[in-house]
Amino acid sequence: MPFFCHEFHKFSQIDFKTSVPSCNLWLYKKSYLCIKIKNMASEQDFIPLAYTQESDNGSFAWSAPSNIALVKYWGKKANQVPANPSVSFTLNNCRTITSLAYTKKENTEGFSFGLLFEGQPKESFRPKIEKFFERVVAYLPFLKEYHFTIDTQNTFPHSSGIASSASGMAALAVNLMSLERLLNPAMTDAYFYQKASFLARLGSGSACRSIQGSVVVWGEHAGTEGSNDLFGVPFSAEVHEVFKNYQDTILLVDKGEKQVSSTLGHDLMHGHPYAERRFAQAHDNLSALQKALTEGNLDEFIKITESEALTLHAMMMTSQPYFILMKPNTLEIINAIWKFRAQTAIPVCFTLDAGANVHVLYPENVSAKVLAFIEAELLGYCQNNQYICDKIGTGATAL
Ligand code: DP6
Repeated sequence: MPFFCHEFHKFSQIDFKTSVPSCNLWLYKKSYLCIKIKNMASEQDFIPLAYTQESDNGSFAWSAPSNIALVKYWGKKANQVPANPSVSFTLNNCRTITSLAYTKKENTEGFSFGLLFEGQPKESFRPKIEKFFERVVAYLPFLKEYHFTIDTQNTFPHSSGIASSASGMAALAVNLMSLERLLNPAMTDAYFYQKASFLARLGSGSACRSIQGSVVVWGEHAGTEGSNDLFGVPFSAEVHEVFKNYQDTILLVDKGEKQVSSTLGHDLMHGHPYAERRFAQAHDNLSALQKALTEGNLDEFIKITESEALTLHAMMMTSQPYFILMKPNTLEIINAIWKFRAQTAIPVCFTLDAGANVHVLYPENVSAKVLAFIEAELLGYCQNNQYICDKIGTGATAL
């Protein structure tokens, strides 16, 4: 018995009386079931029904930001399911801008696309996009019907050591959703963004946190309403004033290619001696961090954020094979931040992603003092004195 669930903005074709034979809830509490569905989103929810419209050619353009995790995603199961929940601040200035042009083609047997990076053909991106298309074609059945031209560029320097996979996959996913919305104009905004996040995740896990919202949770977590493994959800509670417009200055310690990719790093959490304890810790840290974010508790925020960054790198150092992505200057910066914080009581802290660069996080009202400190004491540890000023943003935007 198909019915429309307003909570989840989609048609469900599940026959509850068949699938839950002894359950009379269907007859007497439809809204309860809607909530159940919302909490139990499944891959099936993103397989479209027949499209109502056609389009032979056209183009879209979107920009999508990078994000910086506070509680880290490190370790995954099959199909890009995270081993633990994570939460991130969406960034504002570090973005990928992607346009997607499409033309209907005769042969619908395989994928067909051209790739441009900053206006130049970029064949080295092809395997990643091919793999992404293979993973998402079940959810976007039109993919084999068009030839695509994907034209992409980043707002941050490409040899900055800043991973562009989150912003890049997010930007591609929202473009593809624009095409799907053209073919199915009845689609709601909620579905558009949830499915964009779902698709982005299949390209790169952290990309699902770059679609919508300033603080985004990804991965099932008991304390977070609507959280699930399939797509990121904006943190629903009101974040305290002190975290609005939070600043992230990214110190470029090492702009080179990483020696170990995140994908390989995630794999090394299989059979890792501390894996289970770490995954449990991430759940606890997410609960505690959410409390700190709503209460405006900076001490607690700093304690959890820095511990998460060091734990991430501790996992790398204790995997088999073990590896180190921090550089001597990463440690110099961390020590300088701790010293400055102890001397001034200014609530500045750091986090790291899977690399040597340091994200310096602080409230907007101490910006002038922190930037003066960075310029006076930290720039010497950066390659060519380079850093990027960023702050909390809101997600992808159509251009
Ligand atoms: C350390 O999302 O890059 O930045 O899913 O294999 O593409 P794949 O990995 P990726 O991993 C990011 C790991 C991290 C932590 C985080 O962003 O949560």
